[in-house]
Amino acid sequence: MIAYVRRHLGIKLFLSYLIVLLVGVVVLASTTQFALPGAFSRQMAHMTGGMGPGMMAGPGFGQGGGQAQDLYTTFRASFNEALAWAVLVAVAAALVVSMIFSRGVIAPVRAMMSASQRIAEGHYNERVQVRGADELGQLAGRFNTMAGKLEQIESMRRQLIGDVTHELRTPLTAIKGSIEGLMDGVLPATGETFGQIYQEADRLGRLVDDLQELSRVEADTFKLDLRPVAVADLVNAALARLSRQYEEKDVALTSSLPADLPLVQADEDRVGQVLLNLIGNALQYTPAEGSVQVSAVRHGDEVEIMVTDTGVGIPSEHLPHIFDRFYRVDRSRSRRAGGGSGIGLTIARYLVEAHGGRIWAESEGEGQGSRFTFTVKAAK
Ligand SMILES: Nc1ncnc2c1ncn2[C@@H]1O[C@H](COP(=O)(O)OP(=O)(O)O)[C@@H](O)[C@H]1O
Ligand SMILES: [Mg+2]
Repeated sequence: MIAYVRRHLGIKLFLSYLIVLLVGVVVLASTTQFALPGAFSRQMAHMTGGMGPGMMAGPGFGQGGGQAQDLYTTFRASFNEALAWAVLVAVAAALVVSMIFSRGVIAPVRAMMSASQRIAEGHYNERVQVRGADELGQLAGRFNTMAGKLEQIESMRRQLIGDVTHELRTPLTAIKGSIEGLMDGVLPATGETFGQIYQEADRLGRLVDDLQELSRVEADTFKLDLRPVAVADLVNAALARLSRQYEEKDVALTSSLPADLPLVQADEDRVGQVLLNLIGNALQYTPAEGSVQVSAVRHGDEVEIMVTDTGVGIPSEHLPHIFDRFYRVDRSRSRRAGGGSGIGLTIARYLVEAHGGRIWAESEGEGQGSRFTFTVKAAK
């Protein structure tokens, strides 16, 4: 019985009404019990022209009160009857009101219960109807927001698996094809063939590394070690690491930093990673005899760091997408150019945003060069 009551909101509500009702009845009955005889006899005394103060006290109405006693008894009886009717009607009202009210509460709660069950079973498009602006309506609204987020995450997960599968398949197919060719004797067992196979395997390895890095930065679990750092130190470290590759490809790499730049509040390794990424891309997409320049300016409480190249440029329709995962402007070109998997800029964006900064790209179009800019907060 108690367990049943515990599990039903409607009965709890009804019981709570009943308690209020009961308290009202008890108070009413006891006040009439104690206060009424006094008031009644006072009134009677007043009507019969005063019977002395002694008449009012005591359980009865004294000698002169035979008639009054009858009157009081009759009054008590009809009062009790009226009270009984009132209680009956009030209990019925409590029943009806608690039913109506609990239906209004229980129906949306039940709907949310079954919706959450369906979501748990993988039906992420499940939503509940939002009725009213009270707490229940708000709860339904929040519930739908949560369901929408889950649906979005699920579709991102699917998309990611699809993308990863596709990216892994391409080099794997190439490796398998070459090895089959070798086994069938269609391909010569020369250093060139082995070199091609090695290159594809290398691509696979880099892809896996990139994916691992991406999942690390996406997981929000990585910690930034923020300290005041000099922009010049960051830039010079990146230039030093890439200068040999630039020389090999005959692309000029220069930097132009104003002397009065403030220190920036940054994780040296992470911002270094962003710079390496951008300067590396600039090299990859700039033909020989081109040039790349790293510069910086102060802008309010931020420092903008720019990597400008004279390379192939980016057609404007691709600009909004290049920071997306796996996005490459020209897949075949970037494959031939030994390009990456299209994850580098995604990682860079995550790292910059983790620092509270922004990153964007500009280009006048194909062959017009590109400029990548990101912001870092100045140290206080
Ligand atoms: N400096 C640049 N000049 C021209 N295109 C660029 C430049 N940097 C990036 N891109 C374009 O953006 C795409 C995404 O870059 P990124 O995420 O680093 O991937 P990738 O692994 O291909 O380098 C590249 O495939 C390329 O098409
Ligand atoms: Mg890249």
